[in-house]
Amino acid sequence: MVDRQGFFLAFRLLAAFLACVPLLVLAINIARQSLGPDPGQEVTESLGLAALQLLIVTLCMTPLKRWTGWAGWIRVRRMLGLFAFFYAVLHVLAFLQFILGWSDLWATFTKRPYIVAGALSFLMLVPLALTSTKGMMKRLGKSWKGLHKLVYLIAITAWLHFIWQARSDIGEMVAYGLVIVGLLALRWKWNGPQGLIPFAKG
Ligand code: HEM
Repeated sequence: MVDRQGFFLAFRLLAAFLACVPLLVLAINIARQSLGPDPGQEVTESLGLAALQLLIVTLCMTPLKRWTGWAGWIRVRRMLGLFAFFYAVLHVLAFLQFILGWSDLWATFTKRPYIVAGALSFLMLVPLALTSTKGMMKRLGKSWKGLHKLVYLIAITAWLHFIWQARSDIGEMVAYGLVIVGLLALRWKWNGPQGLIPFAKG
């Protein structure tokens, strides 16, 4: 019989493995050279999608804990959030390397609204990742929660970044948007509007 700690550990390992799946799939596709006519674009897009998906999965952990009462969901929440950040970093690096070629940085970041939304999401993710340790949590005290409410705004700006670049089929994007709206609505119901506003009390 697996004890409680052993079960939590196994669950963490499973969650970490699942979070690595997008990277594994990408590595396999690169090795098989099956990324289509524009591999750089494909790499950038799949890393961006993985970042958004992991952000949404991270936001699902608190409702799952509330509904099931099982603490395991919360134990993997920080790790999943850091995976979202990890994919976002790779996504931005892939964009700079394969699409932009490290030139015209300022012009690109200011001219296209969808890039501005992506850059804003990324900039807001940085302080969350940097303050995700237990030490920072203690040091920031009550402000930690206020700061980490930025995650709701990030979900919205990352989704805007996603939908803004839509060319034809927006069904998938609308589906992600509905999940995000549902997750934010739950927070509103449980904690009121204050629960969604970064740096607000409550
Ligand atoms: C400086 C920050 C960022 C830049 C410059 C950037 C740039 C890009 C570019 C160039 C694309 C491909 C657009 C195309 O298909 O032509 C893209 C797609 C995407 N990005 Fe970003 N991005 C940034 C941050 C983020 C962040 C933080 C997230 C999520 C948390 C994100 C999620 C996505 C998603 C979901 C896609 C669409 C993938 C698909 O089409 O399947 N991006 N981004």
